[in-house]
Amino acid sequence: MTRDLRMRWLTPALALLLVLSLSACTSFTPNSIFGAHSQFGHIVDSLTRKLVVLGAIVFVLVETLIVFILVKFRERDGNREAKQFHGNATLEIGWTLVPAIILAFIAVPTIKTIFETEAKAPPSALQVEVIGHQWWWEFRYPQYGITTANELYLPVGRTANFALTTKDVLHSFWIPQLDGKRDLISNHTNYIWFTPDSAFAWNGFCAEYCGTSHANMRFKVFTVAPAEFDAWAAHQKTNAVGSAPPAPAPGAATDSAKGTPPVTKIATAVGTTTPAGEVAPPPVATPVMNVSDTVSATFPRNKLPEWVIPKTPTPAALTFDASATGDATRGMTLFRTAPCIACHAIRGVPTAQGIVGPNLTHVGGRTTIAGGIYPNDLHHLELWIKNAPAMKPGSLMPLFGKAEKGATPGVYTDQQIADLAAYLSSLK
Ligand code: CUA
Repeated sequence: MTRDLRMRWLTPALALLLVLSLSACTSFTPNSIFGAHSQFGHIVDSLTRKLVVLGAIVFVLVETLIVFILVKFRERDGNREAKQFHGNATLEIGWTLVPAIILAFIAVPTIKTIFETEAKAPPSALQVEVIGHQWWWEFRYPQYGITTANELYLPVGRTANFALTTKDVLHSFWIPQLDGKRDLISNHTNYIWFTPDSAFAWNGFCAEYCGTSHANMRFKVFTVAPAEFDAWAAHQKTNAVGSAPPAPAPGAATDSAKGTPPVTKIATAVGTTTPAGEVAPPPVATPVMNVSDTVSATFPRNKLPEWVIPKTPTPAALTFDASATGDATRGMTLFRTAPCIACHAIRGVPTAQGIVGPNLTHVGGRTTIAGGIYPNDLHHLELWIKNAPAMKPGSLMPLFGKAEKGATPGVYTDQQIADLAAYLSSLK
């Protein structure tokens, strides 16, 4: 081998070695399938490790043999031609039997794992219906009567059984550290179940190409203590803040006496809807929305691990009037007759019963918007309402900003959008 030729191989080989050693430096890989945190993950993990060890043994044996033969039988001065022969029954039986035994060692634990993970979930499992949409996730908890979007809450130690379906094309449900991938198929319900074993926040992904914003179809998973899950579920069942029906006539029973959660009393008299469906004008003494920030039924924002906070940049051309300060009460009044209600539902708001888009009942309590790609704060919410297609390619939600250019004309000023965002943010 000439010196030039040697250098040609040496440089890429050293570069590869450097990359490999650097990639081993990351001690924590939040989206890795290794280091599982559920019973499902542990089963798959232990199978993977077993197979890697078996594979490594075979690899080392075969490579040692190859190197040994290459060296021992290399061309040397004075070598005679090797003895030529045809057929060797011992060798042939050997190289048939050995792989068969190796395959048996791989097949037994693999089939065992398939049966374990494909078995029916225990009947006591928490049922979650996962519905894929282009490009967001709908989560329903039929045992609790809850519908939410893009954020899953699961109690640690209790099996969660997911029934997977899709509203449109194929998607795939995947939380790398909790489960394997499973497809969402049209006209067929797929199942996957696992039992989370530690409390934390995780990233979820769509793992099947499903169109323009496939990469923007993400979700978050919060595994919490059972008591926290119960608190979350109870809170999710309540109506949205400020969603109360028309103010009762003097002397009528109060809302709480009728069993409506107290949280709905906050803005009882604001912008209520008459039975005929028209919006009644707000009364003169408009109460201020007194939205509590102390709802502890959601994962605390300040404890969110860094890797679940999305860092998607917003489009440079999309700006927002910084002087527009939103008013939640005005936003609520506007929302009740806005086009938003054609696609979105808010529990307790009779006019908002849309099912095309995510349920917004407690949208303010979620950590992200737009299928997990932006943090849920006023700034991102305002930009999203102003021009969703610019924020997320292919978004089915149209733009609403008056001066924005797109497939449909926008109708709202930045001030109106700020009001809407303030209202939605208040729905903790
Ligand atoms: Cu949904 Cu990819």
